[in-house]
Amino acid sequence: MAKEVKTIGVLTSGGDAPGMNAAIRAVVRKGIANGKKMMGIHRGYAGLLNEEIDELTSRSVADIIGKGGTFLQTARCLEFTTPEGQQKGAEICRKHGIDGIIVIGGDGSFKGAQKLAALGINTIGVPGTIDLDIACTEYTIGFDTAVNTAMEAIDKVRDTSTSHERCSIVEVMGRGAGHIALWCGIANGAEDILLPESYGYDEQQLVNSIIENRKRGKTHHIIINAEGVGHSTSMAKRIEAATGIETRATILGHMQRGGSPTCMDRVYASTMGAMATDLLCQGKSNRVVAYQHGAFCDFDIDEALAMSKGIDPYQLEISKIL
Ligand code: ADP
Ligand code: F6P
Repeated sequence: MAKEVKTIGVLTSGGDAPGMNAAIRAVVRKGIANGKKMMGIHRGYAGLLNEEIDELTSRSVADIIGKGGTFLQTARCLEFTTPEGQQKGAEICRKHGIDGIIVIGGDGSFKGAQKLAALGINTIGVPGTIDLDIACTEYTIGFDTAVNTAMEAIDKVRDTSTSHERCSIVEVMGRGAGHIALWCGIANGAEDILLPESYGYDEQQLVNSIIENRKRGKTHHIIINAEGVGHSTSMAKRIEAATGIETRATILGHMQRGGSPTCMDRVYASTMGAMATDLLCQGKSNRVVAYQHGAFCDFDIDEALAMSKGIDPYQLEISKIL
């Protein structure tokens, strides 16, 4: 039978992502509208274990929808990966009267949510990561802002690359996934895109493509390199030595995680946050909110974590032609 939740906690965990604030705001305001008491848990699971918990009102989440980062702050917490840490977390929830938790984060954070659910605390996950690497959903909070930030930066690198007739390797984030790299590769019209899912580590082929392009009169050669392939600086040195063309590496880094969220991130994060609260209020647990085939939906966390996701093969194919 569905368990009625009275007090809902919300936390952000893992890497931050633009739009997390919009999601927290929606969680809190929808919860209050549904008659629930809302609690903010600071610094992810680490803050839960340290009891960094306070009540959130509608005013607590005012003026945050346009701000990057997460006002609840976030953390990675080793202790919570242990059964003892999870047990302690569930006991702290009970001590504070928290019978439902909304976890905004990535796959790792959902594994934590799964454990809390098994220990009797109703949990709902909301996909928050710039990497777009959560298999059950076509949208994750922060991806849209991050790819737009990276795209604008790469346009700028391209300007100077053209002026100096250089080759540029631009490394983008994504951990083990190449979604940011592929989207930027298409959006920036990159000459080459190196993805962990498809790169064959054939550097000679890369060198040949740079030399061919130069012969055809191209004044720049932009290579988007995914973090999962990495080693951009040493790659630039080898390419310069092999082609005789000046080559620079730019690692965009954490700038991709910051900044004011795009309209899409604000609206989708708000929708997912509100949905997560509604699911808890319906007595659901161990679910994750997702977006698939043009609609918001939800999945069992166990099923969601068992799914796998690759790179869109058609986008990969066209990225090579365009
Ligand atoms: P993300 O949520 O973005 O994938 P991480 O993989 O770093 O980021 O996970 C965030 C946090 O989730 C970890 O620091 C840890 O506290 C918790 N977590 C990760 N894996 C597990 C697990 N197997 N069991 C319980 N908690 C976990
Ligand atoms: O998951 C988001 C992400 O930015 C990845 O793209 C990257 O690999 C990782 O987090 C970086 O983590 P940190 O901020 O701990 O260096």
